[in-house]
Amino acid sequence: MTAPTTLFRPFFRLIKITILGTQFDVPENNTLLRCFQYLAPEPVSYGRFCWNEDCQYCRVTFDLGERGASRTALSCKLMVEADMRVTEAAAEIRYCSRTLNLK
Ligand code: FES
Repeated sequence: MTAPTTLFRPFFRLIKITILGTQFDVPENNTLLRCFQYLAPEPVSYGRFCWNEDCQYCRVTFDLGERGASRTALSCKLMVEADMRVTEAAAEIRYCSRTLNLK
């Protein structure tokens, strides 16, 4: 028998990020797309995401609060950071996050 696996990288705490104006607690030490999956497990799991930088469906625009300028990235490769603010998200992200009632 094998040990159960988890989708998430090991984490010890949840950190606060803001997604389209709403604050959420997500697991540190994980990619932003994995954090979307943490918040909306089923829709993101069934989303059309490749998880390896091919599809571009996970593109987001974000900043790190007062610490930096706005940047665009693929959330499947972007490691989440405390106080991260996602200001724009691709249509597939928005669709798969519909249960979060984002603005
Ligand atoms: S999930 Fe396909 S590029 Fe990120």
